[in-house]
Amino acid sequence: MSTTAQSGELNAPTLNNPLKYNNTSHLSSLKRPSELNLAHGRILYLEDVSVSFDGFKAINNLSLDIAPGELRCIIGPNGAGKTTMMDIITGKTKPDSGQVYFGSNINLLEYNEPEIAQLGIGRKFQKPTVFEQLSVFENLELALKTDKRVKASVFFKLNSDQKSRLIEVLETIKLEDSLNAQAGNLSHGQKQWLEIGMLLMQEPKLLLLDEPVAGMTDQETHRTAELFLSLKGKHSLIVVEHDMTFIKTISEKVTVLSEGSVLAEGAFDQVQADEKVIEVYLGR
Ligand SMILES: Nc1ncnc2c1ncn2[C@@H]1O[C@H](COP(=O)(O)OP(=O)(O)O)[C@@H](O)[C@H]1O
Ligand SMILES: [Mg+2]
Repeated sequence: MSTTAQSGELNAPTLNNPLKYNNTSHLSSLKRPSELNLAHGRILYLEDVSVSFDGFKAINNLSLDIAPGELRCIIGPNGAGKTTMMDIITGKTKPDSGQVYFGSNINLLEYNEPEIAQLGIGRKFQKPTVFEQLSVFENLELALKTDKRVKASVFFKLNSDQKSRLIEVLETIKLEDSLNAQAGNLSHGQKQWLEIGMLLMQEPKLLLLDEPVAGMTDQETHRTAELFLSLKGKHSLIVVEHDMTFIKTISEKVTVLSEGSVLAEGAFDQVQADEKVIEVYLGR
């Protein structure tokens, strides 16, 4: 078993266990690489990555190449390895073989999960995991803190850069009218946007989003599409989704995963018409 943690959803953070978001205390300054090198036109690069769980190849010679600012959609049947791929990129699971690079110079296999978050790779899990008892503002504020113990939080003050970033993020996630609302009272869609906002507070270069519109209303899904389109360019995004209407709206390039490797890749219309994709995923 080569995984470092169980796959699947993390428990929602609580005030007693609030360390899901970037905990920088693990990152030694020595290990901090200089600058992310994007000279080769890729922000993320996987080559021949494989991982087995008890002999079952969940990821099988997977190669993937994401350009800076790209919004890449990943689709594929349940069990195709989409979440495991995100586990590998974020350091939650170490592959048995293959290469995983952030830019052309940062070998992600040398870093652990909190370090990778600190390097600028943010991850949104399926379930919203905001602090229900805190306000929208407090959730965003908390996302900036490196020391998340309540006692430390009381003395934490945002500087003016951080304040303007918080306002900008609030506008981006369209929650500026809900600043003081308790997060627990938000709709499912709003909670998802708030969690994305918490990731944005960290200014990630690459964002991984696992089934972000699952359970959303059509209107929330539509607003999420707008949100993602507004994020691309500034950030690179990898979005895993089953909602094909949503994928069609946001997609540039779509990668279809099946049995742990790439089955097809290209424009939405191209992969939608692909016989192999129809066979294993879309159906007739
Ligand atoms: N930590 C793990 N231990 C054992 N099996 C796992 C683990 N993580 C994923 N798997 C298996 O790997 C396969 C791919 O799962 P997953 O990446 O969750 O697929 P997807 O997200 O595409 O639905 C599944 O068969 C799943 O049961
Ligand atoms: Mg999954």
